Order: sequence, then structure tokens, then C-alpha cells
Amino acid sequence: MKTVLITGGTGLIGRQLANQLRAKGYRVTLLSRTPKAHAEFTTYGWNHDTGLLDPKAIAEADYIIHLAGANLGEKRWTPKRQQEIVDSRVRSGELLYHALKTEPHHVKAFISASAIGYYGAQTTETIFTETDPPATDFLGTTCRKWEQVGEQIATLGIRTVLLRTGVVLAPNEGALAKLRIPVALGIGSALGSGNQYVPWIHHDDICGMYLKALEDATMHGAYNAVAPTHTTNYELTKTLAHLLHKPFWFPRVPAFALRLLLGNMANMLLEGSRVSCQKISDAGYHFQFPQLETALRDLVTKK
Ligand SMILES: NC(=O)c1ccc[n+]([C@@H]2O[C@H](COP(=O)([O-])OP(=O)(O)OC[C@H]3O[C@@H](n4cnc5c(N)ncnc54)[C@H](OP(=O)(O)O)[C@@H]3O)[C@@H](O)[C@H]2O)c1
Repeated sequence: MKTVLITGGTGLIGRQLANQLRAKGYRVTLLSRTPKAHAEFTTYGWNHDTGLLDPKAIAEADYIIHLAGANLGEKRWTPKRQQEIVDSRVRSGELLYHALKTEPHHVKAFISASAIGYYGAQTTETIFTETDPPATDFLGTTCRKWEQVGEQIATLGIRTVLLRTGVVLAPNEGALAKLRIPVALGIGSALGSGNQYVPWIHHDDICGMYLKALEDATMHGAYNAVAPTHTTNYELTKTLAHLLHKPFWFPRVPAFALRLLLGNMANMLLEGSRVSCQKISDAGYHFQFPQLETALRDLVTKK
């Protein structure tokens, strides 16, 4: 039985992925900042501030999936929070790199989250592909540093895949849960111009892509993990309102109000371009939910 070690495996993606891996016959272990709290899988402790990493976690692993990272939408992006967003991804990744470099192990592949923020918070008609350069804004530079750790791990001879993930649409948490509140209250409307693209991916597809990246030894490097349908914020909110049988209002939430409320985090919601999934499709990934309406219909009917 192969062992998959997941960092940040207690989060939105990690919990479903861990269950799917177990159902497929893998042994799943987790690396968490609070190991005692999670009994369902063997959980080891780590802390990138102190450099703690239980060596058993690496010694037992055949594969590592690196999902750990402070949540982008949880708190206002103060300078301290921005540092936490970077460190929780980069310093934790460096801890893994150091362990893989210095300790005996048999890890065959390292699969890491990255994000479409790599291409920057900007609204254009450009369809970004994996060969485009990183943006120079906060998310662009964060994603670059995050991916550089994966590239360092690749220099150790470990196959490395980086999934530049779009907005994950999941049943009761994450972005969809936040979007659902005003819509369910009957006050749903687009944010800012509403013309910004929201590259999205259904929860089942992001987990499917991690499984594929783990099992397909031909996959290397960065892949965009987004659905093939290009969707604006206006279309996303309107489709959700339609499916929930709620009104969709024309006066949009003004950009200045969001900026006032959220500070520079608002850019993440107010800007967005199109992102191509051609590379992962060419690698043989078949989407379970390529269309927005079908994806949302599936999610809003789940408990
Ligand atoms: N969900 C999305 O829409 C989306 C989109 C693009 C990219 N991604 C990326 O995909 C990865 C997984 O996403 P997710 O939605 O599952 O994330 P999540 O629900 O926010 O969970 C991430 C996990 O990271 C760990 N973590 C949180 N704060 C941390 C900190 N300060 N230092 C170290 N570890 C910390 C936590 O595990 P412990 O408490 O057990 O340590 C947490 O369960 C993240 O890196 C995220 O940025 C997600």
C-alpha cells in the first residue's frame, strides 16, 4: 500500500482528497500544526516557525501533496497577514525540501498547490497559459515563490507537479458558501463591473486532478487547474441566483465599497482574466464538471 502525505490535509481540498485517496487504496497521512485534533488519519506535527517536522512523516511517504497555506479570504491583508500567507506556503515548503534533501526517503512525486493568482489580479481578455510569466503583484510574487520551492524539490530528482488552481467551488464552504449568502438572502448582485473573469473548478475536479498528477508519471511542472468554461463574476452570480430561484439585482456592489471593506484583498474579487486548461486536458484529464450550470446545480443540491 502506497502512502500519501498531505500537508494542510485538514482543509477544504485536503479533506475530500484524503477520503478519495483512502477509497482508492492509498494509506493517507497528514502533516498538521495541530496533530492531536485529527484522529481519522495518522497525523504528524510540523511548524515552519520552529522548524519542527516529524521525520516519520517523510520516511513513510511515497508521495507528498503540499496544500498548506493560510487562507486568503479569511482575514484582511495587513502586512502581517500577507507575510503569513507567504510563509505558510513557502517556509513550510522549504521545511519539506530540507527534510527530503537530508533524510532517507523514498518519495516519488511532490504535488503542490499553486494558484491562478500567478497571472495577477487584472481583467483582460487574455487567456493565460502555463508559459506566461508571473505577475508582479502580491499574489503573483507569492505564487512564484511558492512554485520555486517545488522547483527546488524537483532538483532532488523528485517528480514535481504544480497545480495553478482557480476558485474551488465546493458545497458548503469556501468561495461558493460566501457567494451564496447574499444570493440566498435575495440580494445577490455582481461585484464591481461584474466583467472580471472567475476561473473556477468544481471540488470533484480539483481532487481528480491531484489524483491524476499523483498517478501519471508523465506529468511534470505547472498545470492550470480550472474548468474549460470562461465565466465572469456577473454570469457566476446570475447563474447561482437562477438555480436558487432568487432575484439577481442590477445595481452591482460598487468596487469602492469592497475596497473600503476588504482593503487590497478586494482586488482578488474585482479583477480576473481567463485561464486555459488546455495543458491538463492534453495530459488526459477528463472534467467531470466542465460547464458552470451543471457544476453549480450539483453543488447547491449537496448537503
Ligand atoms: N480553495 C480554493 O479556492 C483555492 C484556490 C486556489 C488555490 N488554493 C490553494 O490550495 C491549497 C489548499 O486549499 P484549501 O482551500 O483546502 O485551503 P484551506 O481550507 O484554507 O486549508 C489549508 C490548510 O493549510 C493549513 N494552514 C492554514 N493556515 C496555515 C498557516 N498559517 N501555516 C501553515 N499551515 C496553515 C491548515 O492545516 P492545519 O491546520 O492542519 O495545519 C489548513 O487546513 C491552499 O494552499 C490554497 O491556497 C485553494
